[in-house]
Amino acid sequence: AVRWPGVIEAYRNRMPVQDDWTIVTLGEGGTPLLPAPVLSELTGCEVHLKVDGANPTGSFKDRGMTMAVTAALAEGKQSVLCASTGNTSASAAAYATRAGMTCAVLVPRGKIALGKLAQAVAHGARILQIDGNFDDCLELARKTTSDYPSIALVNSVNPTRIAGQASAAYEICDDLGRAPDVHCLPVGNAGNITAYWKGFRAYHADGVIPELPRMFGFQAAGAAPLVHGAPVKNPETIATAIRIGAPASWGTAVAARDESGGLFAAVTDDEILAAYRLLSAREAVFVEPASAASVAGLLKSSAGGTLPRGSLVVCTVTGHGLKDPDTALLTAPDPEIVPIDPAAVAAALELA
Ligand code: F0G
Repeated sequence: AVRWPGVIEAYRNRMPVQDDWTIVTLGEGGTPLLPAPVLSELTGCEVHLKVDGANPTGSFKDRGMTMAVTAALAEGKQSVLCASTGNTSASAAAYATRAGMTCAVLVPRGKIALGKLAQAVAHGARILQIDGNFDDCLELARKTTSDYPSIALVNSVNPTRIAGQASAAYEICDDLGRAPDVHCLPVGNAGNITAYWKGFRAYHADGVIPELPRMFGFQAAGAAPLVHGAPVKNPETIATAIRIGAPASWGTAVAARDESGGLFAAVTDDEILAAYRLLSAREAVFVEPASAASVAGLLKSSAGGTLPRGSLVVCTVTGHGLKDPDTALLTAPDPEIVPIDPAAVAAALELA
């Protein structure tokens, strides 16, 4: 086996890098494309999970962050700034550390999952909370970086991020030897659906894949501006990662849907939690709630007849379950206390 070099080296001819740039990488990408037998059985499709929680900081953001921080370093920026629902901040903090740059993250107060906050703290980022939601954070981040040019904005409004995240589409096509018929993913700020569609189109234009997939984007019902066709003023969902009311990449997300013959649909928090539990308890894939939105959407589309049986489907699960331990333990009983006795232990496994 050859060591995976990270997404910039793996797809160098498709990345906006120059020969003399220092590549800032933590070995991101090369994540598993895992067959999902339970979901395949339930839907009558061939379903695979692109497990992007297996990235270095536990989410797909690393694919874009390697590009954004590499470019920022090459441009002589001193620090990086992002708005975030948590994963972008964890990723920015890690890659900035690797690059020797300082990092600040703007987050909505009290609405960040515990694991993500722990990561930003561990990597030494300045954590700036505001009384507002993600959309307010992004507006402030944009204004700050426009006033202070030595600070790099590393949100997905930065096109280098999108170029890096397109690597996930390349990997899926390389693994399958084709594109899926349908690609399902959760949509928040809409950078990722933009990046996937860009990646699939690039492979199609170069003749690497003969057919393009249909893009199915799923939003939480309380934060579903693309489904309604209008911004949502006070977005709410248990899936805090996609608690976003005014997606920055609105136009390119709509284009991905329309050009691919895809759809946007909403899934309720209950549907998200059911998919979240199914993934961990039956497929053995532990994801964070936002990631389960893609699978909730898959199941809903299958039940509603918008997903043709027999389709080859890839669901991207975007972030690791350890990001949000509070949700994992929400309905869990306290651990049992057992006597120091093998019979008691065996009884717990129903072997006695
Ligand atoms: N899944 C997870 C786990 C996320 O963290 C995000 C976005 C998405 C899906 C949606 O991706 O925004 O490209 O449509 N998280 C951002 C953040 C907003 O700040 O970490 P998108």
